[in-house]
Amino acid sequence: MLGLVAYVEGQDIADNSQCLKCHGQVFYEYPNEWTGQTDRKPLNPFHHIDSVKLHTSVHKMFACIDCHSMDYETFPHSGELRLEEKYQCMDCHGGDETFAKFNFEGIEAAFMESVHYKASDERFNCWMCHDAHGYELALRQDKPIVEVVNMSNNMCLSCHDNKFKYGLLSDDEPKSINEIHAWLPNQARHFNKVRCIDCHTKVQSDILISHNILPKEEALRNCVQCHSTNSVLMESLYAHRAKESRAESGFLNAVVLNEGYIIGANRNQTLNYVSIGLFGLLVVGLIIHFMLRIIMIKRK
Ligand code: HEC
Ligand code: HEC
Ligand code: HEC
Ligand code: HEC
Ligand code: HEC
Ligand code: HEC
Ligand code: HEC
Repeated sequence: MLGLVAYVEGQDIADNSQCLKCHGQVFYEYPNEWTGQTDRKPLNPFHHIDSVKLHTSVHKMFACIDCHSMDYETFPHSGELRLEEKYQCMDCHGGDETFAKFNFEGIEAAFMESVHYKASDERFNCWMCHDAHGYELALRQDKPIVEVVNMSNNMCLSCHDNKFKYGLLSDDEPKSINEIHAWLPNQARHFNKVRCIDCHTKVQSDILISHNILPKEEALRNCVQCHSTNSVLMESLYAHRAKESRAESGFLNAVVLNEGYIIGANRNQTLNYVSIGLFGLLVVGLIIHFMLRIIMIKRK
């Protein structure tokens, strides 16, 4: 691991109070050397860090100065710090056995194929989607589907729905997501139940989350690909859960499907029971019929 100063394995949450007394607040205070008084100023919201999110994020046991220069301990911060090189995910996670199950190398390769990476001459990096101070795992943690979808989609919307962040990468304004997808009926319902990446990536067997955002011409538009018994969602959004429920009970059980009734993709259990019932009655009917015939023959 890199030269982490304050990261402590096994520690729950790092004590970052020294930095958060400014970065966790709306206003910050500091002793003004010139006037000898304490100044109170509003913190630029861009520099605000949500300490609640920080404490649920995957890097919660990190001290700020594990990722940022130790020189931030003095305020006013030195101007040179603006040029500070930030760590990238692969600096810490690349080639590390502990994280093998995520296949970071596979994710990086897929990301490098994506429209984002190709269109931005490498200015687009992993942090653009993965909030440095709040990223949490969703799908792998088996959170409820609605929550997984929400967390995942917010990663895209944090930029596609934010002209400042989008403006860092493009001269154009982002197009309205609702207008782009005007052809999709019940939009609100869809965006609550499917992820952007379910339509904008292809399933990859070597990584749980496909990271190759395809050109828009290749996005999924065909309703039947989801609204059918072999829905693509079984391989993507529901795949992790499906695998676990198969491992537990040997079947793709109702727990997986009960979280969403997708027209065409679910079979109706009641109808199944009714047809089994009817079949049962038929068999019983046949048995009675034959018994009666045998009795009749014996009586002759
Ligand atoms: C007294 C309040 C105060 C304290 C304490 C403080 N900061 Fe800051 N920090 C600021 C303000 C205000 C800014 C924005 C203006 C600037 O860059 O100086 C800022 C900016 C930053 C930036 C962004 C610089 C950029 O490139 O835009 C980082 C990173 C940062 N601080 C990290 C830290 C860390 C890490 C600590 C704790 C070791 C810390 N700060 C402690 C007030 C504070
Ligand atoms: C896991 C590494 C990591 C940790 C821990 C971390 N940061 Fe950051 N921080 C980053 C990265 C990377 C960026 C640049 C984000 C980007 O490029 O989008 C950043 C950016 C910032 C900024 C500039 C505004 C922004 O959000 O882009 C401030 C301010 C900041 N960090 C303060 C802090 C403080 C205070 C802490 C501790 C409470 C902290 N950081 C902990 C990695 C980290
Ligand atoms: C400075 C080094 C560093 C950087 C940069 C970094 N990580 Fe981490 N990350 C770690 C360490 C160390 C852990 C293990 C934390 C622990 O002990 O629980 C971790 C944990 C994680 C986990 C949780 C693993 C698990 O098994 O629960 C994920 C997912 C993750 N990081 C993703 C990322 C992503 C995505 C990026 C870039 C956007 C990134 N990390 C950047 C060091 C880093
Ligand atoms: C365009 C946005 C985007 C970019 C860029 C991006 N990711 Fe992700 N990443 C996501 C989304 C969305 C998820 C799904 C969140 C979830 O369900 O846990 C995810 C999940 C992950 C996970 C968890 C996968 C798992 O198996 O649970 C890791 C690890 C990860 N990304 C690493 C990276 C790395 C490394 C990079 C840069 C090479 C990167 N990401 C760039 C959007 C992005
Ligand atoms: C049901 C599938 C589906 C879902 C879900 C979906 N998209 Fe799309 N998206 C498409 C298709 C198909 C196109 C191509 C539309 C066209 O070219 O007319 C598209 C186009 C786009 C474009 C390109 C617009 C342009 O013209 O430049 C962006 C950006 C985009 N989607 C972002 C998102 C985001 C962000 C989400 C999640 C909030 C999302 N999409 C969810 C199917 C989907
Ligand atoms: C930090 C900002 C940012 C984030 C986060 C982001 N995008 Fe984008 N996206 C862009 C920009 C900028 C473009 C335009 C690229 C270009 O110049 O063609 C774009 C283009 C697209 C396109 C259109 C591709 C084409 O063929 O024109 C799609 C589709 C798309 N993004 C989907 C997504 C999805 C899905 C996510 C989340 C997993 C996401 N984006 C996250 C900034 C972002
Ligand atoms: C990426 C997969 C996917 C695609 C593509 C898709 N859908 Fe859906 N659709 C869903 C899911 C998931 C739901 C939500 C089911 C739920 O509410 O639990 C849904 C819900 C609906 C509903 C609402 C049903 C209700 O109960 O309100 C309608 C109508 C619908 N889709 C029609 C379409 C049509 C028409 C298309 C093609 C233009 C389409 N869908 C494309 C996955 C998809």
